[in-house]
Amino acid sequence: MNIIIKKPKTKEEFDQYYHVRWEVLRKPLGMPVGSEKMTGEDRCFHVIALADDQICGTGMLFPKSDSTAQIKQIAVLEKFRGLKIGTKIIEALEKEAQKQGLKKIIIEARKSSQNFYLKNEYKLIENSEHISIGVEHVNMEKVLY
Ligand SMILES: CC(C)(COP(=O)(O)OP(=O)(O)OC[C@H]1O[C@@H](n2cnc3c(N)ncnc32)[C@H](O)[C@@H]1OP(=O)(O)O)[C@@H](O)C(=O)NCCC(=O)NCCS
Repeated sequence: MNIIIKKPKTKEEFDQYYHVRWEVLRKPLGMPVGSEKMTGEDRCFHVIALADDQICGTGMLFPKSDSTAQIKQIAVLEKFRGLKIGTKIIEALEKEAQKQGLKKIIIEARKSSQNFYLKNEYKLIENSEHISIGVEHVNMEKVLY
């Protein structure tokens, strides 16, 4: 399977990008189409993962300050998991953060995906457990070199 990580460009790619975000991150919570979109998207760096031309993964870099950005909306369609696609998305977003001269990435991670971020060298912030959109989350971060 040929995996490519790139920026969505066309309307069709953006539509598919948002659809994957909804399918993976919102639909299982019973949330409607449209709930996957957030304010400030136009200031973000977005990526899609393509597996043999099918959009199967998403992620975005959300600017927080001059030195920090937050990685959000990391999602891989179920049948494509375990193929390091999530890792490739994270790597592409970190590369972009470095290119922008950022020093730190923060993540509000679902507890169920905490191990995925630990494997990608994110550190758990102690006592950061909290509930967001009805789901247990933890805060994590990585200093970029
Ligand atoms: C979390 C997610 C993006 C991981 O994507 P993926 O492409 O399957 O991950 P990778 O194949 O790159 O996994 C890298 C490592 O993390 C581990 N890992 C991945 N997802 C994991 C999970 N949910 N729980 C525990 N370990 C996980 C893998 O086993 C792998 O370990 P290895 O290096 O020892 O083989 C994907 O499972 C997903 O979309 N989950 C649902 C949405 C979600 O929770 N997104 C995060 C929101 S904060």
